[in-house]
Order: sequence, then structure tokens, then C-alpha cells
Amino acid sequence: MSTNNIELTERFVKEHLSGYDSGHDWWHITRVRDMAVHIHKAERKGNKNVIEMAALLHDIGDSKFRKHGDPDPGVIISGFLKSLDVEDDQISEVVRINRFISFSSQKKPDIKSDEFNIVQDADRLDAIGAIGIARAFSYGGFRNNALYQPDVNSKLQEGPGCGNSTIAHFYEKLLVLKDMMNTETGRVIAEERHTYIVDFLKRFFEEWNVEK
Ligand code: ADP
Ligand code: NI
Repeated sequence: MSTNNIELTERFVKEHLSGYDSGHDWWHITRVRDMAVHIHKAERKGNKNVIEMAALLHDIGDSKFRKHGDPDPGVIISGFLKSLDVEDDQISEVVRINRFISFSSQKKPDIKSDEFNIVQDADRLDAIGAIGIARAFSYGGFRNNALYQPDVNSKLQEGPGCGNSTIAHFYEKLLVLKDMMNTETGRVIAEERHTYIVDFLKRFFEEWNVEK
């Protein structure tokens, strides 16, 4: 993959993400790409070009932002990469990563390649730590969700998360991510970011529950 191809892909992705919220913007893509390259270097696994392409293209066609009648993300991605003369087996790997990367996706990947494992870890790491907290409240604002709803019946097994609030999302997703990492490098970073989130929640509830 030439530098020029990477630049063309960056431009293509920027155009596609223009309707997304700030948690899924170009800077999210940049962070995921940088983290994926970092993990690739630390683990010495996977093909760097595929990892970089897949990180750049991982949010193309996200179901939350897909409009009725939009083409399948795989069609969009393979059409684009074919125009850059990327090899067929690399194209199918990038498409597969895009298809199976999502936490909310019910689809499970058939094979977990090194490239898949690395890009998925990088995407998941961007959902925890300080940036994860910022993204969650940004997404909640985009959806006009409450910060926290202590009065709504919890559908959760544990923790004070309730309803559609952003705090509920911490219990549904953010706190479980550290146990879902694929790589050792990802696991170490996730542990530290997880601790930061736990501290944040503790403080959030302390401030919420003012003693009268
Ligand atoms: P994935 O790409 O794994 O499906 P999402 O696209 O669901 O992840 O989430 C992207 C970002 O938006 C993450 O930072 C996630 O924590 C946040 N997010 C998703 N759903 C919610 C929600 N209901 N409330 C708050 N934040 C959310
Ligand atoms: Ni993402």
C-alpha cells in the first residue's frame, strides 16, 4: 500500500463520516489507526497495510448512521479499494473487519485474524478511559439522552445503570470491554483505562448523592 493510497483513503473516509456525531468523527478514526499501529508494533503481528486500511475504513456504513437505501458497506469499501488496485485478499480482509468489528453487532467473525484482533482492540480502547467517557456523553447528547436516570427500573444485573442514560451505557458496555480484549498489549492498556472509568463513576455518584 503506497503512501498515496493511504492519503486517498484518508480523504475518502473524511467525506463519508461527515454526517456522524463527534464520537465517530475523523479524530476517532485517527486515534483508532494510531492505536492499531501501536499494538501492531508491540505485538509484531499482522500486516501493517491491512491494519491501517481496516482502521481507516472500520466505521464506514455504521448501522447507526446508515440511511435507508445506502449501499452495503462491503460494496462501498471493495469498490473503493479496487479503484486503488489493492490486492483481492487484502480487500476481503478489510471488508471482513468492517463487517464484524462492532460491539453491538450480533454477527461473530468466522476467523479472528491478527489484523482483526488488533483493529478491534484499538476501536474498543477508544471507548474507555478519558476519551471513552467524553465519547459516551457526546453520543448521549447527540441522542438527547439523560446523563443518569436513578428512578428508572434497571434492566441490568449489577450497578446503578438504568434506562437509556449515558451512565447506564457504562454498565452495558464500557465496563465489560476490558475482559473482551484480543491482544496482550490491548489488555494492559484496557486495565488502566478501566480503572479510570471506575474512579469516574465513584466520583459521579458521590457528587450526585448530596447529603441533605
Ligand atoms: P461499536 O462501533 O463497537 O458498535 P458504538 O458505535 O456502539 O460502538 O459506539 C461508539 C461510541 O459511542 C462509543 O464510545 C460508545 O461508548 C458510544 N455509545 C454508543 N451507544 C451509546 C449510548 N447509548 N450512550 C452513550 N454512548 C454510547
Ligand atoms: Ni469506531
